[in-house]
Amino acid sequence: MRPLIQEAIAGLCSSSSTSASSPRSMVIADLGCSSGPNALALSSIAVDAVHRRCLGLRQPPPELCVLLNDLPNNDFGTVVKNLVEFKQNNEPVLTGVVPGSFYGRLFTAESLHLVCSSNSLHWLSEAPEDLKMNSIPAYDVDANVRRERRAVVVGAYARQFRKDFMMFLKMRAIELIPGGRMVVSLAGRRSFDLASKFTHAWESTAMILCDMVTMGVIDKEKFDSFYIPIHGPSDEELRQIIQEEGSFSIREMQVPEFTGGVQITPTKVANMLRAAFEPIIVQHFGSTEGGEGIMDEFARTAERRWSLHGSLQDELAENPRGVLLVSLEKKLARF
Ligand SMILES: C[S@@+](CC[C@H](N)C(=O)[O-])C[C@H]1O[C@@H](n2cnc3c(N)ncnc32)[C@H](O)[C@@H]1O
Repeated sequence: MRPLIQEAIAGLCSSSSTSASSPRSMVIADLGCSSGPNALALSSIAVDAVHRRCLGLRQPPPELCVLLNDLPNNDFGTVVKNLVEFKQNNEPVLTGVVPGSFYGRLFTAESLHLVCSSNSLHWLSEAPEDLKMNSIPAYDVDANVRRERRAVVVGAYARQFRKDFMMFLKMRAIELIPGGRMVVSLAGRRSFDLASKFTHAWESTAMILCDMVTMGVIDKEKFDSFYIPIHGPSDEELRQIIQEEGSFSIREMQVPEFTGGVQITPTKVANMLRAAFEPIIVQHFGSTEGGEGIMDEFARTAERRWSLHGSLQDELAENPRGVLLVSLEKKLARF
């Protein structure tokens, strides 16, 4: 995301609408910051880009304010400690935390210059209502029923994403200044990867849990009412929603190709899924379903599945996934 953030800062620091100088103050927000080492990654890139840009323009940097958002149960205590240190290293930067859902209002109108968000916007505000209300399992244990219902399930997830992302854009359109920028990354897929059209971003996790149902480790009824509230859109899907909402112009959209480097092993993938989904799995099934630590059993089942069923690579090839990177600019006026 670094080049996109740097480009956004360059635009903000030179345009300042009419005068060719930087704005006197600038507010940067990271939405879905979490509390780990990545919590300040995007903000650091943005602050650094402002300082470099202003140095290049021989202008004093604007007064900067960095605001970090996540859901209220995020570990904001740790975030605040990190912010204190960040502030000391980046004088004079003002900082704050803003707990709440990014699907609602978080900031005052026209107060933000740059919004960043990495790896968060594929999380829906809730599981698709159509499925919950009609008791349609997201992943039926019966493979035939699952196949027949696939289009219904995928459609319900896509509709929920559309509703949520529209809302996200509407809220940020109120909060950003005209010409304000937004750089986001989220899990997604390439439009031309037809294999992924009728698969889910959470498919591997559901398969493992389904194996655990078959083995009698978790209860089928509980599994039938378990929904992972995630949707990874295609680049085309995202483009259509942004254009339909109408407040932002798309400056850039990328679906980077991941090439080599990291060796994918069953253990690595199992650990990655565990890191992402442990909280909602434990919340729904309890931590000791079947008398054992459910997540230890989850990791064992995953490794067994991928060694028994041959290649993990084949399974991933059937459900190709990627990351979408998008850089947006709030239109000056809506026509
Ligand atoms: C995978 S983490 C990404 C953390 C960090 N941005 C990164 O790139 O490593 C996703 C974060 O999004 C947050 N999140 C999910 N839904 C959210 C919402 N509606 N509003 C605010 N934060 C949300 C989660 O709490 C979580 O901290």
